[in-house]
Order: sequence, then C-alpha cells, then structure tokens
Amino acid sequence: MAVTWDPGGDEASKAERYDAWFDTPWGRYAWALESDLVGERLGPGADRLVLDVGCGTGQSAAVARALGARVVGLDPDPSMLAAARRHRRVDAPVLAVGERLPFRDRAVDATIAVTVLEFVDDPAAVIAEMARVTRSPGTVVVGVLNPRSAWGLWHRRELRGPPWTDARFLTGAALTRLAAPHGTVTVDETLHAPGMLPGLARWGPGAERMARRARVPGAFRVVTIER
Ligand SMILES: C[S@@+](CC[C@H](N)C(=O)[O-])C[C@H]1O[C@@H](n2cnc3c(N)ncnc32)[C@H](O)[C@@H]1O
Repeated sequence: MAVTWDPGGDEASKAERYDAWFDTPWGRYAWALESDLVGERLGPGADRLVLDVGCGTGQSAAVARALGARVVGLDPDPSMLAAARRHRRVDAPVLAVGERLPFRDRAVDATIAVTVLEFVDDPAAVIAEMARVTRSPGTVVVGVLNPRSAWGLWHRRELRGPPWTDARFLTGAALTRLAAPHGTVTVDETLHAPGMLPGLARWGPGAERMARRARVPGAFRVVTIER
C-alpha cells in the first residue's frame, strides 16, 4: 500500500512541519472554520467512541476529543502517529490503512477522516470501511479539499507540487456517489476566502457566513453519512 502523503524533507521532522501550518495566520484561520464544521457535523455527545482514519498528528482527533469523545487514531505513518500520541491528541493509536480497518462491524459510534481521501489508493474502500465499523445510529464525517474554490484557484500552482503531487481531489458529486449506499448523505462547505488577506481575521467570519448561505463553493467540503 503506497502512502502518498509526503510534504517533502526528512522523515524525522515531518510531523513538526505538518503541525507548523496550523500556527500560521492562514492555518489558524482555515483550521478554525474547518474544525468548526467537522465538530458541527460530528455533533455533541460525550463518551462516544470515535475512530479518526488518517489521524496524522491528531489535529482532527483533537476536535472529537474536545466534544468529549474517546478517540482511536489510525494512520499508516508511524512518525505522524507517534506525534499524535506524544501530543495526547488520541486515546489509542493504531497503525493501519483506511482501506482495511482492523475493527469488527459497528465497533464505534462515529468515524471521521479529514483531508485523507486525497491521499489514499481507494477512497471507495475507505468510505465503505468507515461505514462498516460505525454503529447505526452513528455518523461518518469525511472532510476533503475542494480545488474548485477561490482558494484552489489562487493556489493552483502550489497544488501541483508536494504534498499534492499525487493527490486526488474528488468532486462533491463523486463523493456523494461513494457515500450514498451507506446512509443519508449531506454535503456542507466552508472556507470561502482565497488565502490570507489583510484584515481577514476581522471581516472573514461574517463574509464566510454569507458565502455559506449563498452556497458559494468553499475550499473545505464535508460529507456526512448518517447511519
Ligand atoms: C493531510 S494528513 C491529515 C491528518 C489529519 N486528519 C488532520 O486533519 O490533520 C493525511 C494523513 O493521511 C494518512 N494516510 C495516507 N494514506 C492513508 C491510508 N491509506 N489510510 C489512512 N490514512 C492514510 C497520512 O499518513 C497522513 O497522516
């Protein structure tokens, strides 16, 4: 199984370089919106068991933990998983791929995968596996990047280089087709700004709310499956 997520550079500092993005002005702005939407779709509910597929350094797992869930973090990259454990963002780390989840059917209350389907060999298999291990009622939340957005257009050159070289960007329609056999599907989008602009932290949130209501394409798309 090829693990295609690779930000370049040496293996030792990969997790640190990944986490550094979250401390940039754009990273703070974008992640606030992305994590809000993931949390909103995951919904409240303390003591739920959540599986984070492709947890990386645990940034998405931390969203579920903030809602009171216990989180199993799964990733095929040992250095990313080690960082998730070191930062105590996951309760239990599991080294595996999303296409073959080492869990029995209906083992967890919810599953999430944030910016992961872009890098897997078989997105359909990952979604099917996430649905299989999620109880009914339960929730599957998949977050992906949308290059057909203001952000995608502004960054189209960067999106051809690492870590995006081998990335696959699924359209909303393609994702809905993969998700539909597994439950009731909704699609939401956020992050409408093209990138860090002067004063964005101040006026951005209001503009985001208006753009979301007007259904302007956002850079971050979340597909939710209610089981
Ligand atoms: C961009 S990171 C996202 C990490 C985390 N979900 C977040 O939101 O910060 C993508 C992660 O997907 C993982 N990954 C790559 N191929 C995978 C696969 N087949 N199954 C599960 N995870 C995979 C990578 O190792 C990497 O940690």
